[in-house]
Amino acid sequence: MTDWGARAAERLKALAEASEPGPGVTRLPYTPQHRAAIDILSGWMKDAGLAVHLDAAGTLVGRLEGPEGSGTFYLGSHQDSVRHGGAFDGIMGVVLPILAIEKLLAGHVPLPFSVEVLAFADEEGVRFPTALVGSRALAGRFDPGVLEMTDNGGISLRQALCDFGLNPDAIGEIARPSQAALGYLEAHIEQGPVLEEEDQALGVVTAICGIERHQITLLGETGHAGTIPMGSRRDALVGASKIVTGINELANSVTDLRATVGALDVHPNVVNAVPGQVRMTVEIRSPIDATREAAGRDLAAMARNAAVQCSLALEIERSYSQPAQACDPALVKRLDTAVRQTGQQGLKLPSGATHDASAMADLCPMAMLFVRCRGGLSHRPEEYAAPEDLGRAVTAITHFLAQY
Ligand code: GLV
Ligand code: MN
Ligand code: MN
Repeated sequence: MTDWGARAAERLKALAEASEPGPGVTRLPYTPQHRAAIDILSGWMKDAGLAVHLDAAGTLVGRLEGPEGSGTFYLGSHQDSVRHGGAFDGIMGVVLPILAIEKLLAGHVPLPFSVEVLAFADEEGVRFPTALVGSRALAGRFDPGVLEMTDNGGISLRQALCDFGLNPDAIGEIARPSQAALGYLEAHIEQGPVLEEEDQALGVVTAICGIERHQITLLGETGHAGTIPMGSRRDALVGASKIVTGINELANSVTDLRATVGALDVHPNVVNAVPGQVRMTVEIRSPIDATREAAGRDLAAMARNAAVQCSLALEIERSYSQPAQACDPALVKRLDTAVRQTGQQGLKLPSGATHDASAMADLCPMAMLFVRCRGGLSHRPEEYAAPEDLGRAVTAITHFLAQY
């Protein structure tokens, strides 16, 4: 009998070799490592009986044709990783459905619709300051403006696509007709500790969090650290620290709210000068949009107060926002049944990370299957899901597809 979990684990190990050197996995979009992953995945897709092509956004598509006019069900996730990430985040959601289709076909289970397995090029947004290019394009929400964004080496997304043999000007044409899109299922490691704590191998996602990001600049005055009296300083870092602690306290006191100051740039950043300028980012997440938006307003008030208290000039801009996406109730129910058929309880939980599913929700109903990961660790080389859990996930996907 085939051990589907062991096969998934072997495949993930092989894909982890498609990486830049260094700890863990580093596989950025439109790079030789991405090409290597495409080559490996294409082989497995073809072995499973899928017809394979690479679309204009660099999404690898494996299609199993169903009865004429029956519509298409989509499954997949992203091939890219963060720098020094793990072997599971994203790519596992491509490996598992390929095996699930192989398992269904081996059992002679016919599917009354076409199926496509998708390996999106770029979900993490590590190389370019944008993300979800492939899934947004399929959903007809591609913004051509992002083609001019550049990576750290000054290469634009447009150039990177061309160098990869793709035609950026054709991305607008890959949007799929929503009337023929039956749904999208993404399997992903949980990236958090809930399933492990609850002793569950699989979980059913209820919603994907919304996100907003703010760029804040505080402008004070630099000067000699030994001579400027404390009472007459305009110290931008002292103002920033009020925002850092304020937003952290707020997020600690509100259910389902996360807030992070992830980047801070202090000027002049020397030991004996008063910090004259701070640029910082604040990211706020919640599965409830009203909670996130209220926190955004509180942040703005906090920043204004900090600026007044420290005699600073303030610039604050909401630079990004993405609404929360609820998973489709009918697909959630179907996934719950499929998960229970594997002996698990069908634990429901929201996703604090974002996923291609949030963009695919603009095309069709979507659902997400979470797989337990050790220690809740992700975006690290230590990322790990056990082969037995991978096998359970393959089985749950087959049940999910066969229920139609
Ligand atoms: C990416 O996965 C994110 O949640 O930021
Ligand atoms: Mn991911
Ligand atoms: Mn990730």
